[in-house]
Amino acid sequence: MHSTGQGRGMLPLKVKDRPIVRALLAAGCCARCALRFCCVGLQSAYRQSYEDLASELHAFVSAEPSSMEHGKSGDAPEKGPTERPPCKKMRLETAQGSGEGGDTEGIPEAHADADVDTTATAESKVCVACLGVLQYFCDKTYAKKVAEAVTAERYQFDSLVLSVSLPAQLSVREHSTWLLVKKLVRDKGACQDKDDIIQVKEAFKWIMNGLVSQELGVPVLAKSLFEVSVGFTHPETDEDCHFLATTCSDCFKPARNKLSVFTRMAVVKAVEKISEENFRRLFPCPPTHPATRCAALATQCLHVSVFVAGRYNKFSRTLPQTPWVIDGERRMESSVEELITAPLLSSFRSEGFNFSSSGREDVDVRTLGKGRPFAVELLNPHRAQFSKEEVRELQEAINKSSDKIRVRDLQIVTREAVGHMKEGEEEKTKSYGALIWTQRPIEKDDIEFIKDIKELKIAQKTPLRVLHRRPLAVRPRIIHTMTAQFLDAHHFHLNLRTQAGTYIKEFVHGDFGRTKPNLCELMKSDTDILELDVESVDVDWPPAIED
Ligand SMILES: *[C@@H]1O[C@H](CO)[C@@H](O)[C@H](O)[C@H]1NC(C)=O
Ligand SMILES: *[C@@H]1O[C@H](CO)[C@@H](O)[C@H](O)[C@H]1NC(C)=O
Ligand SMILES: [Zn+2]
Repeated sequence: MHSTGQGRGMLPLKVKDRPIVRALLAAGCCARCALRFCCVGLQSAYRQSYEDLASELHAFVSAEPSSMEHGKSGDAPEKGPTERPPCKKMRLETAQGSGEGGDTEGIPEAHADADVDTTATAESKVCVACLGVLQYFCDKTYAKKVAEAVTAERYQFDSLVLSVSLPAQLSVREHSTWLLVKKLVRDKGACQDKDDIIQVKEAFKWIMNGLVSQELGVPVLAKSLFEVSVGFTHPETDEDCHFLATTCSDCFKPARNKLSVFTRMAVVKAVEKISEENFRRLFPCPPTHPATRCAALATQCLHVSVFVAGRYNKFSRTLPQTPWVIDGERRMESSVEELITAPLLSSFRSEGFNFSSSGREDVDVRTLGKGRPFAVELLNPHRAQFSKEEVRELQEAINKSSDKIRVRDLQIVTREAVGHMKEGEEEKTKSYGALIWTQRPIEKDDIEFIKDIKELKIAQKTPLRVLHRRPLAVRPRIIHTMTAQFLDAHHFHLNLRTQAGTYIKEFVHGDFGRTKPNLCELMKSDTDILELDVESVDVDWPPAIED
């Protein structure tokens, strides 16, 4: 047990705080919450063991005002504690100025209860304000538990940020406790405002950041790519905030992915809106005593996404870009997306991915040349750091995994850079090679005119084959240049450079007149497209990587 003297040495409490601490303890607040509501911002005060802090606080509230005053200023009191100052204003000034006589301002009921509630049995009670978070989950034991959960997940990280999620009803209990001490606090000039109170979360982090850091051997920072989340629930008092629904129906709107409308944000908003009078009428002040402490949720880890970009070639005419599923059944064995991401997922030990690319090709279309830019967002990667050499090895692994695709320029990029891939996509050009069939027999001279067509404007109604997933529209597109190589009487090879988003197949066969003009009209013959290759996608991102 600490002596009063030692206690005062550690705690930055003033005599004017004594009635506030006394009222808080009497109401069933824990020692740390008592400090919070006195707006004590000294972090070390929270970090000392709970037992030490509790004994110091009890010594503090039990101390005679005169001895407190004496110990504090080092001077003998000029007035005895029983000597009543002449008026309230005088008393306040006295209390603020020297601390003397401040104790006599304590609210009588708090005084009366203090004797009962400073006993050891009161100490073992679960705090009415933090529901035990700052009593039972702010020590080395809990820090070890958190650290064990993190270690078990085998993440690679060199710092972390600790985040805490608290039961929503804590905001209601916090407000109730604030109303209890508000007048007292203001009169004493201790806190100016509710905002000056130290938040449960803040106190929790002051204590736990250091302990978790010690256990894991990395700094716990305010910001990090790696987030460790701890959370608490308290089913016993879940319904504490339900009365707010009647005072602010707008605050509680059902949202997707939310189990309850009583989210912490919504409760905070409703508490801000409700009048003090209504609150006091609808919720006990101080809050009721809980029978149980809160329960810790499983510790969750999350690493921010890593983005990997590159360009891919597709050499197969039976490989879709993304898994092809019709009525829940797979139509093709694999996909570009799966072939590229499989090695990435296992190397980054990622929980999932998000694949995007600059446009896409049909299943029967190859992508040649330097390939099509793509980016993969790797979600919650357990490993995030790779050297350039390791990324090159990954690229090789993808190359070797299948003959159907190849990848180049593989690199780790920022989230922002991925935006470049989609920027001005419409204005970009794409080059294609196509094998064309003509119904009318042709000679070399019959396709000579094609190379003279420049900047051909065409209008494309949404193709019949995509009408089920795209709205009906007429899109103007430009075919910049074309060249043709004669093959035989019914076949020639056509190269096209077009504005991105041009439907090449429809330009060739006309799509029942939905694309105008089309190659049939130009050739004065039915024409069809037998094979199509993307030769280049002119998006200059991601930057080329030297091999
Ligand atoms: C995938 O990316 C798109 C946009 O690029 C984004 O809207 C979506 O939220 C992402 N999905 C996930 C699971 O991150
Ligand atoms: C993968 O294939 C591409 C395309 O053929 C090639 O440019 C690249 O050098 C290959 N990379 C590795 C590491 O094998
Ligand atoms: Zn507490």
